Amino acid sequence: MEKKVLPLVISKKTAGWQTAGGGPWTHGTPSAATAGCHAAVDVSAFLPENSVSPPILFLFFQTCRQLFLLYFAYIFFICYLCAWNKRDFLNYKMAKIKTIGILTSGGDAPGMNAAIRAVTRAGIYNGFDIKAIYRGYDGLITNDIRPFTTENVSGIIGQGGTILKTARSKEFATEEGRKKAHDNLAAAGIDALVVIGGNGSLTGAMKFAQEFDICCIGLPGTIDNDLYGTDNTIGYDTTMNTIVECVDRIRDTAQSHERIFFVEVMGRDAGFLAQNSAIASGAEAAIIPEDSTDVDQLARFMERGIRKSKRSCIVIVSESPKCGAMYYADRVRKEFPDYDVRVSILGHLQRGGRPSARDRILASRTGVGAIEAIMQGQRNIMVGVRNNEVAYVPLSEAIRSDKPFDRKLIKVLDELSI
Ligand code: F6P
Repeated sequence: MEKKVLPLVISKKTAGWQTAGGGPWTHGTPSAATAGCHAAVDVSAFLPENSVSPPILFLFFQTCRQLFLLYFAYIFFICYLCAWNKRDFLNYKMAKIKTIGILTSGGDAPGMNAAIRAVTRAGIYNGFDIKAIYRGYDGLITNDIRPFTTENVSGIIGQGGTILKTARSKEFATEEGRKKAHDNLAAAGIDALVVIGGNGSLTGAMKFAQEFDICCIGLPGTIDNDLYGTDNTIGYDTTMNTIVECVDRIRDTAQSHERIFFVEVMGRDAGFLAQNSAIASGAEAAIIPEDSTDVDQLARFMERGIRKSKRSCIVIVSESPKCGAMYYADRVRKEFPDYDVRVSILGHLQRGGRPSARDRILASRTGVGAIEAIMQGQRNIMVGVRNNEVAYVPLSEAIRSDKPFDRKLIKVLDELSI
C-alpha cells in the first residue's frame, strides 16, 4: 500500500497552538524544505489510506479538549452557584432589608409589649433600623411612623396592652387604603413589616404582601388562640389565668346563694378560652362553638342532673352574637323556673393586665424568631411555637379557620364535673 507523505507546514504565526512537546505531529521528521522558520512533519506512517488529514484530527482533538474544559467549567460554575444560592443569595436578599417596621393591630393582648420589645431589641442587635407604626394599619395610612431605639422599649415587658396603640382599620381593608399605606411605608424606607395581631390582622398582612413586594412577618398576638401553626398565641395564657381568677371569685357567691352562673368569656369564634378555663376553674360545663353543630349543649348539661350532686354550678359560655350567656340563662329561667340563675359577662377585663411569664416568653421567642426569619430571607410567614420549637408557618396557613380543637378536653371536663 502506497503511503502518502503529507508535508505539514506550521508557520510561526500559527505555532501558538503547538504544545511544549510538539503537537501530534512531533514524531515525524522535519523536511528539508521546511527547515528554518517552518517545521515539517511526516505523519503518513501512522495514517491509513484515505484517513482524515492531521490538521482536521488536531482540530478535532483540540475542540474536544476545549469542550471538555468548557463542560468542566460549567459544572464548577453550577456547583458554585448552588453553594452561593444557599448562603450568599439569602444574605444578599437580606442585605436589601435595612429597616424593619413594627405594628400591633386588632384587639390588644397581654404580651404584645413583650413582643414589640423583642422585635426591636433583636432587630437592633442584628444591625437593622426599627421604625414603630402607631395605631396599627391606620398609622401606616396616616403616616404615624417613628424611629425606635432600645430605650423606647425599656421597662415594657410586664405591661399589658400595647404601647404602639392598636386599631381595627377599615381603610386598610380597601385597595386605596393599602396603596396609601404602601406609599408611606416606602417613603419611610421600611423594607420589612412585622405585624403583631390576630386573624384579621394577619389576613391584612397577607393581602398587603401579595399586592406589593414587601416582606411581612406575623406574630400571633391574640387572646383567642385561634391561629393555626402555633400551640398558643400571645395573650391566651394571661387571659385564661384572668378568667380563672374571676371564676374563682364568682364561685364564692354562687355557692353562697346556691345559684347557677353563666359566665361569658371572649374567644370570637373559638372555644379554647372557654373550654380550658372551665377545666382550670373546676366549672361544671363549657358551651363552645366547636361543639355546637349537632347537640344542644344546654340540654345535655341539664340532663346530666347536675343539681343532684351540687347546689350551685358554673357554666362557661363562649361569646356569640346569638347564643351567649344571656341566651342560655333565659332558657334555664323558662325551662327550669326553680333555678336561681345569674349571668356574668367578663368582657374586656379579660384583655387587660400584666402578661404571664408564659406569654412574655412566647412573645420574646417569637420576636427573636421574626428577626431570624428576616435574616434567613423568609417572607410572608407567621412565627409561632409548636412542641416547644419556634416554627414558621405561611400566613395563608396561619389564618385558617379550622385550628384543631382537642375533643378529649370535653370528656375531661365532663368526667371531672360530676
Ligand atoms: O380578638 C380578640 C377579641 O378580644 C375577641 O375575643 C373579641 O370577640 C373581640 O376581640 C372584641 O373586640 P373589640 O374589643 O373590638 O370589641
